Amino acid sequence: MKKKIAVLPGDGIGPEVVKSALQVLDGVATRFGHQFETTEKVFGGAAIDQEGTPLPDDTLEFCQGSDAVLLGAVGGPKWDKGNVRPEQGLLALRKALNVFANVRPVQVFPGLEHLSPLKSSRVKGADFVFVRELTGGIYFSEPKTRNGDGAVDTLSYTREEITRIVEKAYELAAARRNKITSVDKANVLETSKLWREIVEETAKKYPNVETEHVLVDYAAMRMISNPASFDVIVTENMFGDILSDEASVISGSLGMMPSASLSESGPGLYEPIHGSAPDIAGTGKANPIGMILSIGMMLRHSFGLEKEAAAVELAVFETLQAGYRTQDIYDGTGTLVTTKEMVNQIHFRMLEDSTSA
Ligand code: NAD
Ligand code: IPM
Ligand code: MN
Repeated sequence: MKKKIAVLPGDGIGPEVVKSALQVLDGVATRFGHQFETTEKVFGGAAIDQEGTPLPDDTLEFCQGSDAVLLGAVGGPKWDKGNVRPEQGLLALRKALNVFANVRPVQVFPGLEHLSPLKSSRVKGADFVFVRELTGGIYFSEPKTRNGDGAVDTLSYTREEITRIVEKAYELAAARRNKITSVDKANVLETSKLWREIVEETAKKYPNVETEHVLVDYAAMRMISNPASFDVIVTENMFGDILSDEASVISGSLGMMPSASLSESGPGLYEPIHGSAPDIAGTGKANPIGMILSIGMMLRHSFGLEKEAAAVELAVFETLQAGYRTQDIYDGTGTLVTTKEMVNQIHFRMLEDSTSA
């Protein structure tokens, strides 16, 4: 298979984890005989420095003409006070690609429950997926203004925007364990009342899927006390942003969480859920697993390469099982390694599996 992939390293640890993931992708190409043509484009803070804008036209056009887009992370203190922020480029890219469905899996690898700072008995068996609405809600609704000592953000959703994300979540639940948890704040917000109505209507089309509505505050608590009680969580943009970072403590680290952002048609966008981690950038401490598992999601969702995706996931699992740990998941046992050493271990296992298979 031959595919064209746009690569946006971005800022901070973005370029470090992207480099890692490309090494693993190269291993996939070698082992399975594919051709992945990767082209780096400038994006985020790096693009503000070079071109004065976080999403240059050339970068966007290249992404739109690719089969998939890989993104590291953007942002950092250098651009925090400027008129234009790297994060604006990320939001503009998501909107332009119309990737309204952000799929964020949360999984505890069997036998690796101890990587979580939570009690192993609590996280055992946790295996769920967020379906986060990504191109609407308070991130994008107008007006959004600042008038002296006053500021306004707006939260609005249309029936169409809610329906398409809820449908996506039901499709996913029907292919998993048939359970939907819709998270909202319907006791306060009008957008949530509309959201709940649409979930109820959609539920009728999926009689085998069990549906529950949970208010976002209680959902935040239940995610930590009983994470194994979820299968598919569908929620609006900002609730999904906050809850998915919280969920990362279940698997052990923000650095291990992948994501896929999907549209109805056109290239998917694949990025870890973490940010540019300015506190550890350049130190070799970044955990590359979130980015590497995002490659796995790209292989599965955009290219239909299930076997290849599973091989990436297995190599990650085996490397963790063998005791290799970046700083964020190091508890004094196992082998403490740098980003580069971790990637070498994963890359090596993926190639080795092919010879022993
Ligand atoms: P962050 O996710 O960058 O970091 C939070 C904490 O997690 C830090 O202690 C960091 O060291 C750690 N961490 C994150 N990724 C890690 C990894 N792969 N390995 C090991 N440790 C990791 O969040 P933040 O500090 O709130 O934000 C920093 C910048 O990143 C901000 O400018 C923010 O807007 C941006 N951001 C970008 C994205 C994105 O590009 N998709 C996502 C989130 C935040
Ligand atoms: C994420 C990030 C982004 C978001 C920021 C950087 C705009 O936190 O991808 O989770 O809030 O969506
Ligand atoms: Mn986030």
